[in-house]
Amino acid sequence: VRDDLVRLLLSRIRDVPDHPKPGIVFKDITPLLADPEAFSALTDALAAFCRDQGATKVVGLEARGFILAAPVAVRAGLGFVPVRKAGKLPGATLSQRYDLEYGSAEMEIHAEDLSGADRVLVIDDVLATGGTAEASLRLIRRSGAEVAGLAVLMELNFLGGRERVLPALDGAPYQAL
Ligand code: PRP
Repeated sequence: VRDDLVRLLLSRIRDVPDHPKPGIVFKDITPLLADPEAFSALTDALAAFCRDQGATKVVGLEARGFILAAPVAVRAGLGFVPVRKAGKLPGATLSQRYDLEYGSAEMEIHAEDLSGADRVLVIDDVLATGGTAEASLRLIRRSGAEVAGLAVLMELNFLGGRERVLPALDGAPYQAL
C-alpha cells in the first residue's frame, strides 16, 4: 500500500475519545466517506486487491463493512454479498456463532448467494478482536466457496485480531490498509 494513500486515509479518520463508552477511543470513518477523493482512493485500492486475488464475489460485514465493500464490488465488476447480524436476512441462511468477551454473537449469510465456484474477498472497516471476520470466513467456507482474502481499512493491533483470523484464512492473504 502506497505511503501517500495511507497518509490520506489516516488524515480522514477521526479519533473520538470516550465513545461509545468512557476510556474507548472510537475510530470514526465518516470524514473519509464524506471526502470523494479519499473514498475513491480507498475503493480503488480494495478493488485492486480483489483483482489481484482473482475474486468472483465481494462480501461486506454489517454495517460499516457494507459501505466500503459495495462500491468495491461495483468497481471490480463483481457481485456483492452481505454478511448480516442474525435475524435480518429473509431467506435460507447459514449461521455462525462466535464468542465475545462477555457472551456471544451470530452472523448469517444467504446460502444461495455463494457457490463452490466462487472465490470470495471479505471487506470490513475494522479488525478488532477478529471475532466478526473469523465467523464470516467460516460462513464462506461452509457455503462451499473459497476464501480469496480479507481486507480491512484498520486493524486495532493491540486486540490480537490478526492471530484470530489467520487460521480461518488458511493461507489466503490478509491486508490491513
Ligand atoms: C465493528 C466493526 C467490525 C467489528 C470488529 O462492527 O465494524 O465489523 O466490530 O470487531 P471484532 O473484530 O472484535 O469482531 P459493529 O459490531 O460495531 O457493527 P456496526 O458496523 O454495525 O456498527
